[in-house]
Amino acid sequence: MTDARSDKGRASEPVAFGRRREDRQGRSVRIAAVGDFHCGENDGGMYREAFARANDEADILLLAGDLTRRGTPAEIAVVCGELMDVRIPILAVLGNHDHESGQPEKVNDALRARGVHLLDEAPFELNEHVGFAGVKGFMGGFGRYTLTAFGEGETKAFVNTTLDEVQKLEYSLRRLSTPTRVVLLHYAPIMDTVMGEPEQIFPFLGNDRLLEPIDRFGAAVVFHGHAHHGTFSGKTPAGVPVFNVSMVRVREDTGAELYYVHEIEIPENSGRAEQEPEPGVETPTAAERAGAGSA
Ligand SMILES: [Fe+2]
Ligand SMILES: [Fe+2]
Repeated sequence: MTDARSDKGRASEPVAFGRRREDRQGRSVRIAAVGDFHCGENDGGMYREAFARANDEADILLLAGDLTRRGTPAEIAVVCGELMDVRIPILAVLGNHDHESGQPEKVNDALRARGVHLLDEAPFELNEHVGFAGVKGFMGGFGRYTLTAFGEGETKAFVNTTLDEVQKLEYSLRRLSTPTRVVLLHYAPIMDTVMGEPEQIFPFLGNDRLLEPIDRFGAAVVFHGHAHHGTFSGKTPAGVPVFNVSMVRVREDTGAELYYVHEIEIPENSGRAEQEPEPGVETPTAAERAGAGSA
């Protein structure tokens, strides 16, 4: 699978995987999504067959973070083994558990070596119609009770971590040229899908600052994890469907063995959209475009 890794600090182009599933005339895309399966060192074989079924049931597999318990090299090796038979593209963001051992780069390296595309590094275009953007996200709370960057430096650093994630998501969505955009997160962007968890921990389950780019770019659907005991589905203020695909929710609320499959219909007139200009980059005029050579 294409390695979309960017040089450190330099954004890479969105990856175009090419058309798939032409047997359905490309009029829909089926997305399998799950997070929070928390593989331990002794879990080898637990999910391998179920993941392999995604080859027939979906066009692409999304992993919404917390793939491991503590983010150790041994655990991520188990995860890669579980994904061994998956032949459709796999996209992932990490979760907080994948950071626990302080080695997220080793986790990322192992996933890249398996061919998993890390959305935190670059967006991904499945075909000319549907593209994917994603970040881990962070916590901070919802609505009028969202933590603000006021007071101690530690508080500002905490809030700025979320703001950095929001900016990365915005940039990633902007770079997609597909008319349909799908978002993958670990933390929740709305309060609806954390309902069911103890109210006291809502601020640690997500942050609705992530909503702004999601609604502004008109995402088709959002998937996240982290809130194991939250609610399976909700909507953003602009009406974008949001699914909490932590494994416990998928199993209990859909009856599926491992992942939720969501189908996106592609409109008849769907075609590649005009990519939004990079900030600070002038957009060529139509005349300049027409006269552009291939050099
Ligand atoms: Fe989790
Ligand atoms: Fe988590």
